[in-house]
Amino acid sequence: TKRVRAHHLLAAKERGERWAMLTSYDQYTAALFDQAGIPVLLVGDSAANNVFGYETTLPVTVDELLPLVRAVTKATQRALVVGDLPFGSYEESPTQALRTAVRFLKEGGCHAVKLEGGKRSAAAIEAITNAGIPVMAHIGFTPQSEHQLGGYRVQGRGDAAQSIVDDAIAVAEAGAFSVVLEMVPGEVAKKITHDLAIPTIGIGAGVDCDAQVLVWQDMAGLRQGAAPRFVKRYADLAGTLTAAAQSFAEEVRDGAFPAAEHTF
Ligand code: KIV
Ligand code: NA
Repeated sequence: TKRVRAHHLLAAKERGERWAMLTSYDQYTAALFDQAGIPVLLVGDSAANNVFGYETTLPVTVDELLPLVRAVTKATQRALVVGDLPFGSYEESPTQALRTAVRFLKEGGCHAVKLEGGKRSAAAIEAITNAGIPVMAHIGFTPQSEHQLGGYRVQGRGDAAQSIVDDAIAVAEAGAFSVVLEMVPGEVAKKITHDLAIPTIGIGAGVDCDAQVLVWQDMAGLRQGAAPRFVKRYADLAGTLTAAAQSFAEEVRDGAFPAAEHTF
């Protein structure tokens, strides 16, 4: 099997073919999603919430993410694996950004990195790209700046649309191979997708993006409770796992498990 590369995603855009990206943080989901034909897997800093149980993405560190990146990369044969640079690991200078990106490729084994920010991150994107590392950008609502942005809110409504468009142009000119558009009005995402040569990957950005991404635990219904409007649940893993745990416990209590065939 041939590894998916940035040029395949560009070619898909030229053919008008949409594709899906999922997060993954472990070997089993990585292997399953790879076999399911998901071409790009993101080891998101959303591991902060979805693996480590933090309230926000801010606390997660490079040292916490790298083992997950390694697990996902090792478990895939075809998917392009993107490692997400966590808060504090790239904002100081393009030099710091490049140093962190290099760690992700050397120690994590991933094929590309992602970082948040438009114009403000253009110099970092350029430095990493110039070192031969593909960069996925992320604009619109950027969770690492949630305190500055005033919580989870749609970005680029009304007069603010132009600044999102400017961010998109800035990351593309800096050399990004793709860009995540998070919580951006559908019409703004449509314009950006039309204007840029590189693929746009929407999350809460409407159907006109070149690709869509969801956090896998949201997509598969493992995470319980209220989900953002942009989430669609394609399975009920929370229900399935709860029922399995309850059946196991019940069979242990009543002596149905282990049976003769499970016994040496
Ligand atoms: O960390 C993450 O999961 C992300 C995607 C939702 C784009 O950044
Ligand atoms: Na992220």
